[in-house]
Amino acid sequence: MITEKCVRDSFAEQAGYCKILGSSFMSDLLTGLGKQLDKSTETGRRVLQWSGDPAHKADALALRLAGALHALARSGQDQALAKFYHNPELSSDAEFIPAVLSAIAANDDELYQWLEFAPQTNEVARASIIYSGLSVIAKRFGLPLSLYEMGCSGGLNLQCAQFGYQFKGVEFGDNASILQLSPDWSGELPPDANVEILSRQGCDLNPLSVMDADDAAKLVAYLWPDQPLRIARVEAAIAIAKNDPPKLEKADAAAWVEDRFQADGAKGNVRVLYDTIAWNYFPDPVKDRIDQHMHEVGSAANADNPIAWLTFEFDEEDKGPFLKLRTWPGGGQAEILASADPHVNKIHWLQEN
Ligand SMILES: C[S@@+](CC[C@H](N)C(=O)[O-])C[C@H]1O[C@@H](n2cnc3c(N)ncnc32)[C@H](O)[C@@H]1O
Repeated sequence: MITEKCVRDSFAEQAGYCKILGSSFMSDLLTGLGKQLDKSTETGRRVLQWSGDPAHKADALALRLAGALHALARSGQDQALAKFYHNPELSSDAEFIPAVLSAIAANDDELYQWLEFAPQTNEVARASIIYSGLSVIAKRFGLPLSLYEMGCSGGLNLQCAQFGYQFKGVEFGDNASILQLSPDWSGELPPDANVEILSRQGCDLNPLSVMDADDAAKLVAYLWPDQPLRIARVEAAIAIAKNDPPKLEKADAAAWVEDRFQADGAKGNVRVLYDTIAWNYFPDPVKDRIDQHMHEVGSAANADNPIAWLTFEFDEEDKGPFLKLRTWPGGGQAEILASADPHVNKIHWLQEN
């Protein structure tokens, strides 16, 4: 049975992870809430009487409340709270947690509703590694690409060809873009190829639309206030997406892939399925259906109508994540192109050109 102590312990545990991941602000916030949140508000009651598993690997309850507070602070509705979010270095100040508790009391009705949502981010830095993989596909087939992303969240990385990249000082992508990414790069560079995107679409169990103000606020709220670079990247990607939003569908990945990938696809383009840090959230039967379907339609592919499947995921032994590519015609054997950290600060290119 989940007790109040379990919930408070889960906040302390999440605070520890946040500290390791470089966020003193989140560590101070969640440590303070874990000790001082009480049942005088609906938010406090729902948190402390949580019936599910509050742990990071399950409901991630602490991050749900943290996202709600970040959104409130960004809305400017509560100036006393916003002061700390604008100056995250003040999080060790004795007034911080009292300001948070006052904000919860004053905005209770708005905040407790956020507890229903699982935290959902869309890591824009992963565009670097996807774009590198697309360069390999474009070089191999010499055709434009039609992109299909499963588990795409807000679909921000479907815009990856509209971002600019510097890999070891060499420019790739759109170098006039307002969003520029330059991960540390080791190994050879990806091929210099004309990456032309014909179409972009994605699916998610809960797609977040950049055209919806609440969804766009969520994409930022689950980032951490003392990580301004990640926030700036997501804001830039949202601004780009608003000009030409990709088509996102609320769908389970297996049903969507089975519907979108047919053996008789249009000629003159490569249909590219891809996923980044989403595969391990899919149940095993969903994974099996996608795997089987891609191999079936792949066996009917030819040079005019090729298929590629690009993945940036942890492997079965939890190693990685690795960038892997399967292409058809050609049998669909997985080639390992690169490894990187999950937030793609560093890329190690493994493929020899
Ligand atoms: C960790 S997020 C990664 C989002 C995005 N790919 C990225 O790298 O920023 C995983 C995403 O997979 C989605 N998801 C989980 N199970 C799914 C399923 N069966 N079908 C489609 N999407 C799913 C979640 O809603 C979530 O948006």
